[in-house]
Amino acid sequence: MVQLTLPKGSAPKKGKQWPKPEGAKNTKAFKIYRYSPEEGGNPRWDTYHVDMDRCGPMVLDVLIWIKNNVDPTLAFRRSCREGVCGSCSMNIGGRNTIACTKGWDEVAGSTITIAPLPHLPVVKDLVPDLTTFYAQHAYVQPFLKTDTPEPEKEWKQSEEQRNELNGLYECILCACCTTSCPSYWWNGDKYLGPAALLQAYRWLIDSRDEATGERLDDLEDPFKLYRCHTIMNCAQVCPKGLNPAKAIAKVKHMMVERVA
Ligand code: SF4
Ligand code: SF4
Ligand code: FES
Repeated sequence: MVQLTLPKGSAPKKGKQWPKPEGAKNTKAFKIYRYSPEEGGNPRWDTYHVDMDRCGPMVLDVLIWIKNNVDPTLAFRRSCREGVCGSCSMNIGGRNTIACTKGWDEVAGSTITIAPLPHLPVVKDLVPDLTTFYAQHAYVQPFLKTDTPEPEKEWKQSEEQRNELNGLYECILCACCTTSCPSYWWNGDKYLGPAALLQAYRWLIDSRDEATGERLDDLEDPFKLYRCHTIMNCAQVCPKGLNPAKAIAKVKHMMVERVA
């Protein structure tokens, strides 16, 4: 699988080598992408040595250990620490994933490289600018659209209809898939990308939704949907085990079926 490890912009220079923690018997090196607009905007790789005997098992634990013990200026996003919020997504050892469920012992090599999600503008260090990603999510209108007056109690679904949403509703909007997609790297301003399209399908097949035709119309152009070439990077990196490529194929199938 081809994976770019660098965000948009110039290639980072070699940065600071931080000293090994005093008295540590078991250390590991982490090479981390650093970028700060206040420091003139020149990206660099800083290398940190972490005392693994005093650090938790996940890559997010490593980042928190560095921030608490070595360098408080290191910036990264995180919230839930249990793979639910999607905020700690980044590129670890050349692969997009979420840092809070990725064990540092699962990443090969004596030095582990950590960079922001590829092909996005960087706000600071490991924090990418997700403005376009969220706008693309909003574009697919990820909410129930109906003409029928709202029922007194609830919109009902059979167990079978509800099961159609399995493998779709679990998306945590981490953007690992979208930023690993070569088609998105090339046409990120026009192609909606796998995360938004997975959500588009999630609402298209919701038995309660009454805007199927309108939703398909909104995807019907040469770029928004049809830039997916089934390269499958998206399915390989999704930390929740979802398959956006399959969902995209189903949307394409719905397009064909409605004109047949
Ligand atoms: S299958 Fe489609 S969406 Fe997924 S990585 Fe490939 S081109 Fe992108
Ligand atoms: S489909 Fe998977 S990789 Fe893509 S945004 Fe959702 S959870 Fe993240
Ligand atoms: S901190 Fe929420 S998914 Fe990692």
